Amino acid sequence: MTIQYKQADGAKKRLARQEAMSKPIYILNGPDLNLLGEREPEIYGTDTLDSIRQQVEAHATDAGHKVDFRQTNGEGDLIDWVQEAREKASGVIINAGAYTHTSVALLDALLTLDIPVIEVHLSNPFKREEFRHHSYVSPAATGLICGLGAQGYLRAIDALIELFNNS
Ligand code: DQA
Repeated sequence: MTIQYKQADGAKKRLARQEAMSKPIYILNGPDLNLLGEREPEIYGTDTLDSIRQQVEAHATDAGHKVDFRQTNGEGDLIDWVQEAREKASGVIINAGAYTHTSVALLDALLTLDIPVIEVHLSNPFKREEFRHHSYVSPAATGLICGLGAQGYLRAIDALIELFNNS
């Protein structure tokens, strides 16, 4: 590679990084995750969703990124937010809760994205009931983090930043 090409490459990467930092990372949470803290704490831990939001916001801010952290019990809302992310987000972190295992419509929406997508689960679905072993999110995801509890969201932010910096 000549020096000129290398410089053009460096400028392109810087621009992509700047663009990623100008848009928020969408963090989309599906059904029943509003009950974290009360809901099956032996599986999902004792962190509330609000405390996860605070940890994630602090972690992203330290790295110079903005996040837009949301939760819904509605499948249609999740799909609307994924469609919105096409224009407005730099990347998506998604814990679709039980819709992970049921929603072809969510998969179709995710497949329209050309930004990185990290699928997150607090628990490790592969250690649980058979019906949780299949994910409609995974075929559209860049990567999957599961079984690390709230830490998984922070590692997903790190993974996205790494992807922004190396794309
Ligand atoms: C979950 C795992 C799903 O199987 C379950 O339906 C959830 C939470 C998790 O974060 O471990 O609601 O996505």
